[in-house]
Amino acid sequence: MKPSVRIVVVGDPKVGKSSLIKTLISESFEDEVQPVLPTVVIPPEVTPERVHVSIVDTSSSPEERHKLEEEIRKADVLVLVYDVSKRETLDRASSYWLPTLRRLGVTVPVVLVGNKIDVRGIGADHSLEHLIKPIMDEFREVDVCIECSAKQVFNIAELFYYAQKAVIHPTAPLYDVNEHT
Ligand code: GTP
Repeated sequence: MKPSVRIVVVGDPKVGKSSLIKTLISESFEDEVQPVLPTVVIPPEVTPERVHVSIVDTSSSPEERHKLEEEIRKADVLVLVYDVSKRETLDRASSYWLPTLRRLGVTVPVVLVGNKIDVRGIGADHSLEHLIKPIMDEFREVDVCIECSAKQVFNIAELFYYAQKAVIHPTAPLYDVNEHT
């Protein structure tokens, strides 16, 4: 069993990356969160899979690109966040983020997370659900998709649990970078 899991949270600006991490650790939502949080380290006694977990926040600003790529390369699993109330952030997940991970040669599992479900309303008709399956079909490295709300503290522990589980109990053979080169 892997002794530790490094979760790296990526996605477009303002989708709620820092808020998701902050909400996980404080179990409450704050409107103002610092742009990039320091790495959160969770001891095995309090993680569901009993492993050390590190959660790394990232910045999507162009000046931080080098650092972002460095963090992506060190990840055991990536949490790729989009904003369910902004379709373009999901489009960017498939047009930019997932291809970028492949370009970097990253083969770790990805958890695709739709945040801000409180803005759209749970179960609302204009769900982006129909757009998810084609993404999962094209990018087999996407292990699981989940919608959540940092603001309502909804599905936050679950999404980080799925991320740990994707590393500890992988469900399918992971994407082989050689297949696509
Ligand atoms: P960058 O550091 O710019 O990349 O942003 P980020 O992705 O870390 O997003 P951040 O956590 O700073 O959140 C951006 C804005 O969205 C803030 O105003 C948050 O309060 C808000 N926000 C985050 N999560 C939610 C949510 O679940 N619901 C709503 N309504 N707002 C949210």
